[in-house]
Amino acid sequence: MAHVTLKDVTKIYDGDVLAVEKADFQIPDESFTVLVGPSGCGKSTILRMIAGLEEVTEGDIHIDDERVNDIPPKDRDIAMVFQNYALYPHMTVYKNMAFGLKLRRYSKGEIDQRVNEAADILSISHLLNRKPKHLSGGERQRVAVGRAIVRQPKVFLFDEPLSNLDAKLRVQMRMEISRLHDRLNATIVYVTHDQVEAMTMGDQIIVLNEGKIQQIADPGTLYHEPANQFVGGFIGTPPMNFIDTEIVNSDNNSPKLRFEGFEVELNSHLQLILSEFSGKSVTLGIRPENIHIGENGKNQVLTQMELVEPLGNHALLYLRTEKNSFVAQSNLVDLPQHNTPLTVSFDIDKAHLFHPETGELLMAG
Ligand SMILES: Nc1ncnc2c1ncn2[C@@H]1O[C@H](COP(=O)(O)OP(=O)(O)OP(=O)(O)O)[C@@H](O)[C@H]1O
Ligand SMILES: [Mg+2]
Repeated sequence: MAHVTLKDVTKIYDGDVLAVEKADFQIPDESFTVLVGPSGCGKSTILRMIAGLEEVTEGDIHIDDERVNDIPPKDRDIAMVFQNYALYPHMTVYKNMAFGLKLRRYSKGEIDQRVNEAADILSISHLLNRKPKHLSGGERQRVAVGRAIVRQPKVFLFDEPLSNLDAKLRVQMRMEISRLHDRLNATIVYVTHDQVEAMTMGDQIIVLNEGKIQQIADPGTLYHEPANQFVGGFIGTPPMNFIDTEIVNSDNNSPKLRFEGFEVELNSHLQLILSEFSGKSVTLGIRPENIHIGENGKNQVLTQMELVEPLGNHALLYLRTEKNSFVAQSNLVDLPQHNTPLTVSFDIDKAHLFHPETGELLMAG
């Protein structure tokens, strides 16, 4: 297996579409690295540049210690699985999996051994004589992965391989690919726009937006210490709530956050940091699970509860104040009625503060 390094890699299409800007990161050997971000942010472009299917405009890509910018895809020793894994319809599963090895002139015995081994790993040994049209979506997906496994490449590249599958099958395949990673000790680069997929599969997650890397971290760090408002809002479902607030410092050195007449007290840690910011604005980021129902806690906010979405073991409450709307998550069994007043309290110890203009994280609670 291998590590992959991108050094200030930029991609400009057709002279003026800046798809990727100065991507600079390393994919460690045997890591499961996920590239995640909204549609058009440059994920596939990065993957295709690593594969050699797209030229690099500026910067360098290394696989292990070799610069591969000018090396053709077939000589890079990588295997890619796409969303639209076009299997050859007239070939059996066996032949689909064997095809790439045949092209590379492997011996019959070697091909047979590799195909059978991959089929065993993927539990598709009983399907080897079938043609793709007689397979389910999940089975076809496994064959596509099988085609990559038999190559025994240095690096596996996956571009949204699960997005054609239904929700249940996606969860199952997600686990299978994670298991595959453990079993093969493979270096995997996996592209998805689904943050749940990213969080559950990746040990290193690279969050992209508009061609720029926003943060590179493990799932826990992304969730608890998002580098900026974009990452805070992108990772987590439902997303983090954002409220524009002003820092007021009426009784000296214990600044509070104010919005719409509500005041949110800060813990001493935040107070210390914000004491110089009096009169300035700041964006408060608070996750749904850190807004609690009831009049017991500190930092109470009176809201109108517009809608409740019961989800079995918890419910989502859609709340409004005069100028803001936000979502709270509750485990309460007796849920309040729609369109009734509801007092909630903000758990400020778990809140985040962001710069109102740059969106950079100022403080994680
Ligand atoms: N061949 C091309 N020519 C010109 N522009 C392109 C080309 N391919 C992609 N782009 C542009 O580059 C940007 C990044 O595209 P890319 O396909 O990498 O996005 P993505 O993150 O994979 O999105 P999605 O989640 O929709 O697959 C987009 O603005 C896209 O329109
Ligand atoms: Mg894409």
